[in-house]
Amino acid sequence: MNFEFTEEQIMIQQSARDYAQRELIKDVLERDAKAEFPTQHVKALAELGFLGMLVDTKYDGGGMDTVSYVLAMEEISKIDSSVSVIMSVNNSLVCYGIEEYCTEEQKEKWLKPLARGEKIGAFLLSEPEAGSDATSQRTTAIDKGDHYLVNGVKNWITNGNSASTYVLIAQTHPEKKHKGINAFLVDRHAPGITLGPHEDKMGMRSSDTHSVMFTDVIVPKENRIGEDGFGFKFAMKTLEGGRIGIAAQALGIAQGAYERALKYSKERKAFGTEIINHQSIAFKLAEMHTRIEAARYFCLKSAWLKDQGKPYGTASAMAKYWSAETAMYVTTEAVQIHGGYGYVKEYHVERLMREAKLTQIYEGTSEIQLVIISRAIMND
Ligand code: CAA
Repeated sequence: MNFEFTEEQIMIQQSARDYAQRELIKDVLERDAKAEFPTQHVKALAELGFLGMLVDTKYDGGGMDTVSYVLAMEEISKIDSSVSVIMSVNNSLVCYGIEEYCTEEQKEKWLKPLARGEKIGAFLLSEPEAGSDATSQRTTAIDKGDHYLVNGVKNWITNGNSASTYVLIAQTHPEKKHKGINAFLVDRHAPGITLGPHEDKMGMRSSDTHSVMFTDVIVPKENRIGEDGFGFKFAMKTLEGGRIGIAAQALGIAQGAYERALKYSKERKAFGTEIINHQSIAFKLAEMHTRIEAARYFCLKSAWLKDQGKPYGTASAMAKYWSAETAMYVTTEAVQIHGGYGYVKEYHVERLMREAKLTQIYEGTSEIQLVIISRAIMND
């Protein structure tokens, strides 16, 4: 067992840390308040190679490993998860699925611009009545010979407006239930696609989240991913990797809040001493630090399994579950340690607490992760 990072992994971590601490921090509060899309930062992350970091260099990606991805996601998320969610969706839910399951022609056309970060992508699975229950897809993609005709509504779509490429999941053969579902590559500007308003979210306010309506949208036959009926398995496999990204995001949120709470408790005085000298505060920090360290091991283990080509679906569910729960716990404690200062924007911890909440909800709620873990235990 080797707990050392390689030189390359440390370099990637440092480069993400530098960018986050130097640039993202400058306008994070303002963007959160205005719910303003981080256009300049997305461009900068593309230049750093972070938008397609997991994609092979032969498709214009960064050719980095999943451990490096976890390290970079943690650093960006310590400062701003509105930015890291864009990075995570593009890498894990869009580029990964295309690289793993698409034809060479599809990769040439769709993957390369996404890997270079010239375009960004979105993953369209959730619907008004199909969130956790992902097999109940109502959006239809009916086979019309040389094309599919798509009708329906998708909900809570991260990058809904900013994306140029949609990876769409839709039902082609309703009688076959999940075995009738397909995945498609769709041009976001295709006629018949309209967007709902920007969702006014509690946290991660500067990433753009929309519902997306499809009315008689024509999708060419060659845009289907894999064999007819492969769409549900495709979505599940893609989400397995996506959960590593969100687990690392939750880890970063927790670490960011912990670092702020630690610093504050070494400066703030009460009852004649810095508050860290009070056991009630020191124990809180010890508990936060220990839970974070466990989350870090879960994240790195699932990333390592993926890099080794071993099964990682249960490990990524555990990482997502534990990291999200930890982020919620740690950010709540960080606000508590800050007292009244924690409840106002300037100290960042209230924003981190709002961001933490989303990690318990998207890419499968904490309860869904427990479903996945418990099924694995039953099959042991
Ligand atoms: N890999 C491969 N195949 C899988 C799989 C996996 N990880 N998980 C399930 N499957 C297959 C099963 O083998 C089964 O196939 P067969 O019938 O051929 O055997 C089929 O899929 C159906 O599986 P289940 O019977 O287990 O399906 P289920 O209805 O009980 O649901 C679930 C399983 C895990 C709960 C799934 O519905 C799920 O993951 N739900 C959560 C969805 C989710 O994460 N949504 C997030 C939206 S994306 C998002 O948030 C992105 C964003 O914008 C940030």
